[in-house]
Amino acid sequence: MTRQISPENCTATRREALPARLVAWYDRHYRRLPWRLPPDAIRAGRRPDPYRVWLSEIMLQQTTVGAVKPYFNAFTERWPTVADLAAADRDDVMKAWAGLGYYSRARNLKKCAEAVMTRHGGVFPETEQALKALPGIGDYTAAAVAAIAFGRPAAVVDGNVERVVTRLAAIETPLPAAKPEIKRIVAAMVPTTRPGDFAQAMMDLGATICTPRRPSCILCPVMGDCAAQRLGAAERFPLKAPKTEKPVREGAAFVAVRQDGAVLLRRRPDKGLLAGMSEVPTSGWTARCDGEKDTEAAPFPAQWSACGVVTHVFTHFTLRLSVYRAAVGHAAAADDHWWSRPEALNGEALPTVMKKAIEAAIPGATKAQHRAAGQ
Ligand code: ADE
Repeated sequence: MTRQISPENCTATRREALPARLVAWYDRHYRRLPWRLPPDAIRAGRRPDPYRVWLSEIMLQQTTVGAVKPYFNAFTERWPTVADLAAADRDDVMKAWAGLGYYSRARNLKKCAEAVMTRHGGVFPETEQALKALPGIGDYTAAAVAAIAFGRPAAVVDGNVERVVTRLAAIETPLPAAKPEIKRIVAAMVPTTRPGDFAQAMMDLGATICTPRRPSCILCPVMGDCAAQRLGAAERFPLKAPKTEKPVREGAAFVAVRQDGAVLLRRRPDKGLLAGMSEVPTSGWTARCDGEKDTEAAPFPAQWSACGVVTHVFTHFTLRLSVYRAAVGHAAAADDHWWSRPEALNGEALPTVMKKAIEAAIPGATKAQHRAAGQ
């Protein structure tokens, strides 16, 4: 059941004023972020660089604003334009993405940059429909880029916006079933002037005031319009469907360490989970709990000693990797494997789960990587 954003005691004028009040609040309180233009520049008719908007939106689907900033700065310093990214070496892009997770996004990032060059002459298209035809751009990113980079009145709905809207309208339908209703409400609110700043105002409100826990309703520019607040129950929203337990998979990871501290790595296959990323040799762990998790799965005989179990939660399953370490002499690396010296580990395209495994075997080995990634 959904209550109206503005029940009887709110006038239509007040309802119409909601987007304007949000944007006025944004003018004063917007977060200064490297991909944004300040509101006065937008008011003066300037537009942000679509490449930077697109890049930030892809990265922001992965993690928080704080975690994205160093990656965004590193990418734009190294590849300042979409043409530069399109021409980049794919492995370099994967390495620069390492730590952000969900690596198919990095592959699509590169493919999208190439498509913008080949299909659109290096200029991002402006409509949601044309944007959605590009690799890696879904409903959310298309709407965000259309609104923020091109001033199109698109309904931009991310997790923060979902929370704001379910509270404003006290939506009792749990997520994700409430998504279409939320989208309709946002679409009805989008102003024709500065729709990009409206979208970012909703996001900033969700991130700084309408927070998941202990929202600062007293500071909220639209408190008077909020049905959840009137119920004294802002924190109750959004309702969420009960989570189903993720299946657990098990496997083993083998950290072979040479005398000079180099670690044996290999490249994962080009298709599937973490495709094209680097890893230490592992048993198969696409299997369920019957996956091999002891030294029988080791890539070669050695004095393997157990270093504990690391857990990593992927989208569709939880992985428990038993980690083993062995010191080896002057071993040659087999095909598709290589030795990565301690200082080179920094630049390897190691997904987070592999960093955890190496850290379990060689405490401190990945710390330099974290510093390099700005984390
Ligand atoms: N999250 C996703 N996109 C964002 C943006 N443009 N500004 C702030 N937070 C965001």
